[in-house]
Amino acid sequence: MCLEALEAVISFIFVQTNYNMTILILGSGGREHTFAWKIAQSSLCQSLFVAPGNSGTAEIATNVNINVTDFEAIKALVIDKEIDMVIVGPEDPLVQGIHDFFLNDETLNHVTVIGPERAAAELEGSKEFAKEFMYRHNIPTAAYQSFDASNVKEGYAFLETLNPPYVLKADGLAAGKGVLILNDLVEAKTELKSMLVDAKFGEASTKVVIEEFLDGIELSCFVLTDGKNYKILPTAKDYKRIGEGDTGLNTGGMGAVSPVPFATDKFLYKIEQRIVKPTIQGLQKDDLPYKGFVFIGLIKVGDDPKVIEYNVRMGDPETEVVLPRLKNDLVEIFQAIANQTLDTIDLEIDERAATTVVLVSGGYPEAYEKGKEIIGIENITDSIPFHAGAKLDDGKVITSGGRVMAVTSFGNTYQDAIKKSYQSIENLSFDKMYYRKDIGFDL
Ligand code: AMP
Ligand code: GLY
Repeated sequence: MCLEALEAVISFIFVQTNYNMTILILGSGGREHTFAWKIAQSSLCQSLFVAPGNSGTAEIATNVNINVTDFEAIKALVIDKEIDMVIVGPEDPLVQGIHDFFLNDETLNHVTVIGPERAAAELEGSKEFAKEFMYRHNIPTAAYQSFDASNVKEGYAFLETLNPPYVLKADGLAAGKGVLILNDLVEAKTELKSMLVDAKFGEASTKVVIEEFLDGIELSCFVLTDGKNYKILPTAKDYKRIGEGDTGLNTGGMGAVSPVPFATDKFLYKIEQRIVKPTIQGLQKDDLPYKGFVFIGLIKVGDDPKVIEYNVRMGDPETEVVLPRLKNDLVEIFQAIANQTLDTIDLEIDERAATTVVLVSGGYPEAYEKGKEIIGIENITDSIPFHAGAKLDDGKVITSGGRVMAVTSFGNTYQDAIKKSYQSIENLSFDKMYYRKDIGFDL
């Protein structure tokens, strides 16, 4: 056989074996729409499912109405559709051990799962576990002590040694509501009791971590790891409060910017040396199997980064600004994670800034109405409207959650990008639509 013919055969085999993956994404938010949007561009993905998905994922993939923690239903789907790879969006299935569920089942253990195993997911599942991990590996974070119902009095005594504000954290998952920051000592003691004794956050507050308050500006760092090697994705900053000027209640996120202008090369170097490296090495030393995203919530205190928290997944809405800037084929990266060859990948990042502005239902994060028709999506041409709490109903897109849509734009500067997102939003409307008009105000 001549050389060309041999090459043709080899490339044919290559095409046959690599270009036909069936992929499942778990989740239904803007983050998962962004994953679907990115994966749909991959030449390695032949067929894409999202469970349960939303109106945005319905346009580019097949939605399957399965709950992300219904492992048996997910198993049936994976077998039925011959799924090769599962990307886990939210933390709940990871903390409940979905990766272990796949590994321990001989009909599923050939499937690639992107997300850590249960033991490692405790970095998000338990604040105390995360603090102990950071202390063990000398990773800079706030000083702390943890308490349970048996030593509430010691908890009061510890609070008395601290200066206000007081930071109280429910140990377990509390849907983003488990952190209280209080200025008054008496109130802090009352809340501590209500968490530990009266189960304010249910099971999640059986233990409470009390922390030193750190004063600074926050940012998020996203790391991909195959358990051995790591790659750092672009930084992002999200805006958590409902009100302009970062006021009012905490939300799941009202907007995001990437890159973070104050994260200079020097500061990023500190993050990598002091936090990312010891985190990845710590996972190995502690035998915590990790193939997925590590989301490190950071705070810049003076010129130094400190860890506020770990999450074992991507952030939302940070994903909506980080993934659009990634030029690589994401499925190729996920394959490298599965094969522990992430060191062979060079990340290519779009130099431009990306921003997203989140449209929410009026009233969110408290009570709000659903089922409102979203008008004007088709008129958006300069931005990418990632759907979140939105679903299809009789051919219309209607609201189905608090965070409804994240409108992402590129720009040469983050100011240009934000301007574009706001211009695109002019095209959109639904009853009681609300969004913050000051994303990026503090940069
Ligand atoms: P967490 O769920 O741990 O990310 O906490 C939620 C938010 O509370 C963070 O994004 C910070 O804004 C704030 N926070 C948490 N821990 C501290 C701390 N030690 N000092 C200051 N702010 C904190
Ligand atoms: N945007 C913060 C988070 O995803 O937890």
